[in-house]
Amino acid sequence: MQSLVIYASHFGNTEKIARAIALGLRTSGSVQLYAADEAPIRLPPETDFLLIGGPTEAHTLTSPMAQYFSRLDSYALHTVAAAAFDTRMRWPRWLSGSAAAAIAQHLRAQGAQMVAPPESFFVRNQPGTPGQRNILLEDGEIARAQSWAIACIAMLGALPRLRTLAQL
Ligand SMILES: Cc1cc2nc3c(=O)[nH]c(=O)nc-3n(C[C@H](O)[C@H](O)[C@H](O)COP(=O)(O)O)c2cc1C
Repeated sequence: MQSLVIYASHFGNTEKIARAIALGLRTSGSVQLYAADEAPIRLPPETDFLLIGGPTEAHTLTSPMAQYFSRLDSYALHTVAAAAFDTRMRWPRWLSGSAAAAIAQHLRAQGAQMVAPPESFFVRNQPGTPGQRNILLEDGEIARAQSWAIACIAMLGALPRLRTLAQL
């Protein structure tokens, strides 16, 4: 299986999550990992699984990720299996927003088949050290990202059977 992971990251947290996801995917095949501003706008034809993620800022995705989607043709991702992830604060969803939800919308609009609901990995302010660079991943989130990637592969394997069931 060939997977492609594309991420945006301001302060490095989402990049760490993307790298953990890539590690999880490597248990099932080869993986290419790109920052959004260096990612290919045409998917390699052999791509089986596309994962895109970024930080949640102002309730939604950041401009490098929005720009990546605007560089893609409409329906560029037609029928490719995909999943979306983000990093965000552990606040109620209505308060935090979610880049993953916005990324999933773009993926669906460009023809991708989502294999899993958008997933969030949580960051927190390090106590006593104000400032944006002191927002760090919560303990355990890197391991959870790796496990999530492996769970996505299982969902991807179930997709043809789910499609068949949906047609019954
Ligand atoms: C300008 C700015 C706006 C942010 N807005 C939100 C927000 O609306 N909701 C949220 O949950 N987190 C918000 N955050 C926290 C980010 O989600 C957090 O910094 C990000 O997950 C870190 O990822 P990165 O290190 O990959 O940039 C914001 C952070 C910044 C710097």
